[in-house]
Amino acid sequence: MSSTTTIFDCKLLDFPKNHQLNGNLTSITNGKEVPFDIKRIYYLYDVPGGNSRGGHAHKDLDQIMVALSGSFTVTIDDGNNKQSFHLFQPYQGLLIPPGLWRDLDTFSSGSICMVLASELYDEADYFRDYEEFLKYKLL
Ligand code: TYD
Repeated sequence: MSSTTTIFDCKLLDFPKNHQLNGNLTSITNGKEVPFDIKRIYYLYDVPGGNSRGGHAHKDLDQIMVALSGSFTVTIDDGNNKQSFHLFQPYQGLLIPPGLWRDLDTFSSGSICMVLASELYDEADYFRDYEEFLKYKLL
């Protein structure tokens, strides 16, 4: 029930890191490190300095955000509490279950935010109005 999720349902996942002198490699496998089937991958890049993204919540979508390059901050809001995660390691992912408002900002120059998603893109799955989101969370 995504109306009852809280910031405490978000967690940082550590992906396997194959460390070699000639570079590192990280793999992410369905059913192993990721607690859902990945149906879609998208990424944010070329975000102009000082700009923010997000500003919405999802009804049924699970996501994992990874700072493939550079860094940015993801602030999660369940209507009662907020928590900010500064992502900067390409071998870590922030698991965001449905029913949580997210804002992304402080993108470093050249940063890339890759998102693994459990569902196909569906605008009907979004809450883009914060008051509507609070009503859904019964707040
Ligand atoms: P949005 O999810 O609001 O981006 P962000 O969370 O980064 O601010 O999407 C921005 C636009 O891109 C919106 O018009 C919908 C479109 N879009 C797609 O066409 N496919 C997708 O998979 C996603 C995530 C967005």
